[in-house]
Amino acid sequence: MTLFTHEAFDDHEFVHHIHDADTGLRAIVAVHNATLGPGLGGLRMFNYASDDEALTDVLRLSRGMTYKNALAGIPYGGGKAVILGDPASDKSPALMYALGRALNKLNGHYITAEDVGTTVADMDYIRKETPFARGTSHGVGDPSPFTAKGVRHAIHAAVKSKLGIDNVEGVKISIQGLGNVGYALAQMLHIDGATLIVTDVNAVRLAQAKNEMNATTVKPDEIYDVKCDVFAPCAMGASINNQTIGRLKALIVCGAANNQLALSKHGQDLHNKGILYVPDFVANAGGVINIALEDSATSDVIMARVDEIRGTVDEILERATDGNLPLDVAEALAMDRIHQYRAETRAA
Ligand SMILES: NC(=O)c1ccc[n+]([C@@H]2O[C@H](COP(=O)([O-])OP(=O)(O)OC[C@H]3O[C@@H](n4cnc5c(N)ncnc54)[C@H](O)[C@@H]3O)[C@@H](O)[C@H]2O)c1
Repeated sequence: MTLFTHEAFDDHEFVHHIHDADTGLRAIVAVHNATLGPGLGGLRMFNYASDDEALTDVLRLSRGMTYKNALAGIPYGGGKAVILGDPASDKSPALMYALGRALNKLNGHYITAEDVGTTVADMDYIRKETPFARGTSHGVGDPSPFTAKGVRHAIHAAVKSKLGIDNVEGVKISIQGLGNVGYALAQMLHIDGATLIVTDVNAVRLAQAKNEMNATTVKPDEIYDVKCDVFAPCAMGASINNQTIGRLKALIVCGAANNQLALSKHGQDLHNKGILYVPDFVANAGGVINIALEDSATSDVIMARVDEIRGTVDEILERATDGNLPLDVAEALAMDRIHQYRAETRAA
């Protein structure tokens, strides 16, 4: 299979493979649509089973960033990068310096930041070699609290739309993954009065959530069977798939993980089961808003922009009537913005 016939290609503008023999770095940078500005999106480091799995991941992730950045109203296109390797054993400063040098050659066509498997410290290493890295310790650092805040807004909007109530007091919310975003989200929802059911592969995190938030804990695989109002996937992508979808007993799916649907048809499958799905790229935009504005706005201004996610989700859910899925409405709204910008700026 070539890139152009790859099932996840979807008219990408730019896909760049990186190899550095000295460090063993193997990475892929993908920019899906750069109409609104340079591609902006995180750098993922993951132990992919194959090169094709890495390519599929970066293509799907960068496409999602196109929609996310357009709906977030930031002047960036959709981009993403992946490093093939285990962050626990294969990561080194030299690897990150090598990536920084490679990104520098792209002249800002792609701007990187943290994602799963990379940290603020990694961005600091990359930044030494290129200006095209955000989320460093000299900038805003970890975007996760902003992402969690946006997901909280999206959950509140979905609860209002589906259950007709204005708050989440007593609402049963299950959270898969208590990492940087999931744990912060759990803390916010706990303060809001939600009843939490949580899971993680990390037993320490689980015990912490149980003690701090009186959360009910379940084993990782049991989270799909939990009867609840909201299921919030905050671990890895593709948790909504052919194996899990039949087990879900939630009324709403709304979380932080990117690419929660293993296949796009799962949006329709959730709808057929009466489950309201809030598109991940709408709910989890808080982090990229923070990253995009870090050089130009105060944290109050950035937080106010993150708070606008509530209005965006409200608008999408209001438009999603007569069988129009929120996912389709959100993608169409994002593409409208891109086409409008293109028409305004490229007219003869
Ligand atoms: N960090 C951000 O600002 C941000 C922004 C947008 C999207 N996201 C997405 O949100 C998700 C979470 O991001 P994060 O920064 O919190 O990552 P993280 O690595 O800090 O947290 C992920 C958590 O999920 C747990 N986990 C992994 N596999 C699991 C499983 N099978 N069952 C239960 N738990 C499992 C891990 O132990 C970890 O605690 C990712 O998909 C990421 O792409 C994050």
